[in-house]
This record gives sequence, C-alpha cells and structure tokens, in this order.
Amino acid sequence: MQAVGKLMKVFITRRVPPEGMKILSAAGACEVSQWDSDEPVPRTELLKGVQGAHGLLCLLSDKIDAEVLDAAGPNLKVISTMSVGFDHMALDEIKKRGIRVGYTPDVLTDATAELTVALLLATARRLPEGVEEVKNGGWSSWTPLWLCGYGLSGSTVGVIGLGRIGMAIAQRLMPFGVKRLLYSGRTAKAHAAEVNGEFVPLDTLVSESDFIVVSCSLTPETQGLCDKAFFSKMKNTAVFVNSSRGAVVNQEDLYQALTSGQIAAAGLDVTTPEPLPTDHPLLTLKNCVVLPHIGSATYSTRGIMSALAARNLLGGLQGTDMPSELTF
Ligand code: NDP
Ligand code: DGY
Repeated sequence: MQAVGKLMKVFITRRVPPEGMKILSAAGACEVSQWDSDEPVPRTELLKGVQGAHGLLCLLSDKIDAEVLDAAGPNLKVISTMSVGFDHMALDEIKKRGIRVGYTPDVLTDATAELTVALLLATARRLPEGVEEVKNGGWSSWTPLWLCGYGLSGSTVGVIGLGRIGMAIAQRLMPFGVKRLLYSGRTAKAHAAEVNGEFVPLDTLVSESDFIVVSCSLTPETQGLCDKAFFSKMKNTAVFVNSSRGAVVNQEDLYQALTSGQIAAAGLDVTTPEPLPTDHPLLTLKNCVVLPHIGSATYSTRGIMSALAARNLLGGLQGTDMPSELTF
C-alpha cells in the first residue's frame, strides 16, 4: 500500500454492508469514494467516480466494460465484485489491461441453494397461490384436487450446472426422496457421486426430469439455453426453476410454454431485465413465481460477501494474495 499522503483511490458503486467498509477503513491506506445510495449508480456517475481509481468495488448490476475501464485510466489495478457471478464484466478488456479481479464464491453457496429449494417448493406446491386464496376468500373448504401440485418424493431432478451452488441444491433436495439426480454441463464432476448424480446429455436431462433447476453461470454458451426447443422437450408436468441468471432463459418462449400447458410451472429468482417491469406478461401467470434476485440475501451472507469483497480489493491494491481471485 502506498504511504499516507499518496493514498490509493477506491471507488465503491453502492452502499455495501458495514463489514466491508470497516475492513477498508481499518486498513487506513485508501481514500474511498462511494455512490452513497441503495440504488445502482447511474452510468454517468460511475464513469465519473471511477476516474483515476486504483481500485473499484462493484456489484453485479454495474456493467464493467471498455468504457468504464477507459474512464478509470491506467491506475486501475483491481476490480472486486461483491458477487460470485462475473458476467457483468468484460473479462477480455480487463485482461488486456492487466487488471486483477476478485469475486465472492463459496460464501453465498448455502444461502443461494436454500433459496432455490424454497423457490422450487413454493412453485411446485403453489404456495403463493394458496396464500392469495386464503386472503381473498377463495378458500371455501378442503377440496380434493384444489391447489394440488407436484412433490419431490420419487421424482427425477435435473440440475443444469452442478457447480458449487448446483451441488448444494442437489444435497438439499436428495433427502426429500428424490429417486434420480441428473446433471449436465461441460464436464462430469467427481463430487456428483455424493448425490448419485448421473452426468447426461442436456436433452436427456430435459426430457426425463420432473424438476429442472438451472444453476450454471451465464456464458455465451448458456445464454438463451432454455428456449422453445428446450421447453418443448420437457414433460407437461415438469417444474422449471432458475436461480442463475435471467439471460439463460428466453422469457417469451417460457411464457408460451407456461400458457400452452407445455410445462407445469416456473420459479425464477433471476430475470431479464432486473427489475422485471410490473406489467411483464410472466407476472400475470399463476404458474410462474418470480422473486427479486434474493438468492444470497441473508444478513450474514451479505455481510460476509462485503468483507470478502473488501479483502479482495485490498489484496489487489497491495499486490498481494487476494482471498478469492478470479483466474481468467
Ligand atoms: P460454479 O462456477 O461453481 O458453477 C457454475 C456451473 O456452471 C458449473 O458447474 C459449470 O459446469 C456450469 N456451466 C458452465 N458452462 C455450462 C454450459 N455450457 N452448460 C451447462 N453448464 C455449464 O459457480 P456457482 O455455483 O458458485 O454459481 C453459479 C451461478 O449462480 C453464478 O455464476 C451466478 O450467475 C448464479 N448465482 C445466483 C445467485 C442468486 O442470487 N440467484 C447467487 C449466487 C450465484 P461445467 O464446469 O461442467 O461447465
Ligand atoms: C451473485 O453473487 O452472483 C448473485 O447473483 C448475487 O449474490
């Protein structure tokens, strides 16, 4: 770290939990400026704020592209994102400029897996519809087929992307009595044995699963992966859940699949865009449960993410190890 008087400049694009801010101020060697709001930094303010910065602490809602890197200029040594996803960053441009990147894997895995399981159950067992019916007087009596859904016991679950979060989801689902756990991705995973996971081609996963959970990263290959052809291969009784990134799904095709009875229901923690406009057609559907990207939203997880993002930033500024450096 440079001596006092020549403090490294850091720009933080949002208010972040205090754990991270405390770490930065205790280090006592960087001059922090911040977009002091709970709302995303406007693009013009980001371009202004980053000027001359040595370090940038950003969130997944900030697009970090060549324009931002050019605005920052040659001082920029490190970008630390308070997220495990890094699809908002132009890694090719970042690499060209020799900038290091920190991110927050592992620390949010449990929280995100837990939320994904909650979303799957809420969607499959129609919890939001049930709550609504209690409130609006639609509950007349115990009725044999009213608000019936689909259960996990004896089912086949397909996980697209059995990475950290995908695996944690599988581990949580197996005790519900899941019979077969299929997964797809680029490579078979040794850790899949823990959940008796079968590595299968995507088409097999799509056509044989009763529940499909998307937990892969967003890449050029996974963008739009869940489209008309994908949904047309699913069982009519199958439930689709996405907690990765909205752009993995073609939402028009999903809408068609949900309204035509091609698939039973969908639960989405992530959408395109975010926030999803309140007049979006998906929000008119009873068989679609949409959450506002809250996978990692526990107080403790967000605090730990903030602390890790701060430590990554300091490591990058100091030219030392970063606890979680992205290799790319
Ligand atoms: P990992 O890197 O551990 O897992 C990513 C998985 O994506 C890998 O298993 C990888 O499988 C798979 N994948 C990559 N390319 C493809 C492909 N072409 N087809 C199928 N699978 C593919 O990351 P995490 O589990 O930690 O996080 C996953 C994602 O979850 C993040 O990138 C982020 O977008 C999202 N996320 C969402 C949150 C939320 O709040 N909803 C919270 C946290 C994360 P393989 O190695 O075989 O290619
Ligand atoms: C991430 O970290 O990528 C999530 O989407 C939010 O925690």
